Amino acid sequence: MARNVVVIGAQWGDEGKGKVVDLLTDRVGAVVRFQGGHNAGHTLVINGAKTVLHLVPSGILRTGVDCLLGNGVVVSPSALFTEIDRLTANGIDFAGRLVVSPGCPLVLSSHVALDRAREARRGDGAIGTTCRGIGPAYEDKVGRRAVRAADLMDDGALAERVRELLDFHNFMLERYYGQEPVDAARTLDELRAAATRLVPMLGDVAERLRVARAAGRNVLFEGAQGALLDIDHGTYPFVTSSNTMAAAAALGSGVGPAYIDTVLGVAKAYTTRVGGGPFPTELGAPVGEQLRSAGNEYGATTGRPRRCGWLDAVVLRRALLASSVDSLCVTKLDVLDGFETLRVAVAYRWRGERLEYPPATAEALAQCEPEYEDLPGWRSSTAGATRLADLPAAARRYLERIEALLGVPIVMVSTSAERGHTIMIRDPFA
Ligand code: IMP
Repeated sequence: MARNVVVIGAQWGDEGKGKVVDLLTDRVGAVVRFQGGHNAGHTLVINGAKTVLHLVPSGILRTGVDCLLGNGVVVSPSALFTEIDRLTANGIDFAGRLVVSPGCPLVLSSHVALDRAREARRGDGAIGTTCRGIGPAYEDKVGRRAVRAADLMDDGALAERVRELLDFHNFMLERYYGQEPVDAARTLDELRAAATRLVPMLGDVAERLRVARAAGRNVLFEGAQGALLDIDHGTYPFVTSSNTMAAAAALGSGVGPAYIDTVLGVAKAYTTRVGGGPFPTELGAPVGEQLRSAGNEYGATTGRPRRCGWLDAVVLRRALLASSVDSLCVTKLDVLDGFETLRVAVAYRWRGERLEYPPATAEALAQCEPEYEDLPGWRSSTAGATRLADLPAAARRYLERIEALLGVPIVMVSTSAERGHTIMIRDPFA
């Protein structure tokens, strides 16, 4: 019986989902992205060779696995082509494997200009976006004025849509933000050129998924960003502009929710965040610095240093609740090697109350004081471990405590960025 597994990040992104997805792709017929765009950065390391993916699903490194971009993904044609060209130059075969939904809204250069202008206007209150135009592209989707991949099939309709959209964007850029306008004619030319390459990739993603299931092939739905960056359930307004929770896998690919069999949440053994917004367990130097350098915590998309802190069970509970996560993968356990004591936030204190779930507003979250539980660290290496029995007793206790705090089994543990350095306790596709 074919299984459909959704993999989501359970924190603020960068949990190491790419590695986990890549590892599991030998069990699947297809990998589907269902939200986000090229704001994502998924790093895969195979036999020491590093590949960073932004838009292309993390199944591309396995021959024979279809890679699908569902309607929930916003697609920058130029970013997609750059990525395909880079991967092709490295010997990866795309032939017939990449399918893009006609419903994908396109990210244009005017979206990038608007993203930058907004961030600059916000000043100290900036979201810290990736400045890839993601937010403005989703706004246009909801505003029913987006140029979608399907529009590339009809030149007349495309010209009209681009004219209307750029008229609106340039009004905002010039009159509201005092910025240079974007050349509408050039944008149209770029899209016409993109059509030649993108139109042959268009296909019915939902139908592909139906056929895969009927043929008994497993499918992996690859989340981008993380649960707490969800537009509805995250730390609004310091969030991304899509739903990152597991339910988005259905809407963003065109299949019904009953199609999802299991949800694997991926969480680092500690916590990181890029960009602005509250982060209760954030650590300053020297411990935060130690985590950053041990974990090489710099953004795969923007190169920005990530903010680092202790593991936060409160944040994870929200992810588990809103995404019905039924199993967990803990990544980067090896980064904690060498700490004398580890801390885990088990609850927050806020205005005299004890909270086990994050409060509804970013303002309240910023006022929360973590209630920590201290656990003994381990002074030996876990890097590269592939069996639970190989871990020091304190590392096993740390994992057991996470399971007990969250009430969800840990089924995988990642002990370095390398594909094979993983402890597989229970196969999510089994
Ligand atoms: P946007 O998605 O570019 O609009 O950025 C909104 C917020 O999401 C910012 O805090 C970004 O740093 C964060 N973000 C977007 N994509 C990622 C990701 O792949 N990993 C981690 N943070 C991300």
